[in-house]
Amino acid sequence: MENLKVLAPTTKADVAFKIDHLTVDFPGSKGEGGSPIRDFSLDIGSGEITCLLGPSGCGKTTLLRALGGFVRGASDGGVLFQGQWIEAPSREIVMIFQENNLYPWLNVRKNIAFGLAYCDGSRREKNERLEQMLQDVDLVHASAKYPHELSGGMRQRVAIARALVMQPRVLLLDEPFSALDVSLRRRMHALLRQIWAATRTTFVMVTHNVEEALMVGHRVIVLGGRPMSVVLDERIGETMKERYAPEFLKLQKHIEDLID
Ligand SMILES: Nc1ncnc2c1ncn2[C@@H]1O[C@H](COP(=O)(O)OP(=O)(O)O)[C@@H](O)[C@H]1O
Ligand SMILES: [Mg+2]
Repeated sequence: MENLKVLAPTTKADVAFKIDHLTVDFPGSKGEGGSPIRDFSLDIGSGEITCLLGPSGCGKTTLLRALGGFVRGASDGGVLFQGQWIEAPSREIVMIFQENNLYPWLNVRKNIAFGLAYCDGSRREKNERLEQMLQDVDLVHASAKYPHELSGGMRQRVAIARALVMQPRVLLLDEPFSALDVSLRRRMHALLRQIWAATRTTFVMVTHNVEEALMVGHRVIVLGGRPMSVVLDERIGETMKERYAPEFLKLQKHIEDLID
């Protein structure tokens, strides 16, 4: 599980999201110190893992919600996904929130299967996908358990499986591992990388953990300021992903200083 050095895209990826002069206004947030996202532009690559870092309150969740089609208040500009304006949530772009929102009355298997109800395909094919997914996230042994019987890491694995079983083009993750302890968190990083290697799904993950961003991301973007802007934008080569290597620690410290 510890081997994070799966094949990574070496060249700049095609664009999945084009955030184009996006402004998000909340009711009463106009004017000074108001809306966190004003006239913000950024391209996010397809088929790679982009990690977004930044101080609390800078607008990361709001940005992720805009990518997921959940923001109604885009008063100007917008987000294009593969050339189309995003206007509403879709099955192609799935978001996982920090609180994983599992259905407490459904067991693990049924929680994961829930997403399949909205998908095309024969019953047999869906069952195969479900079994494969249970294996991929290492939950076969727990498939009959209910959410309250699971550890935090298991619950988050169910949430990821429930999203990925729908075979979305994009998975958006908002601080998905922040409630987990360090060792579990690192196992989840390895799992995420494995799933990415197998599916090449576009992942966009918000985190406040710099080590996490550097270990998981192909690209790490630091956001900050009000209105929000890009403070740092780095591609993280596979040779970088040595947690205790001097260049890793140097970049980690640099980013931590930027966020503080
Ligand atoms: N529903 C809302 N109504 C009004 N203001 C909001 C709303 N959601 C977020 N904001 C404002 O946007 C800022 C950024 O929020 P958020 O995107 O959650 O930041 P982050 O995820 O980076 O911590 C908040 O400080 C708040 O001022
Ligand atoms: Mg947030």
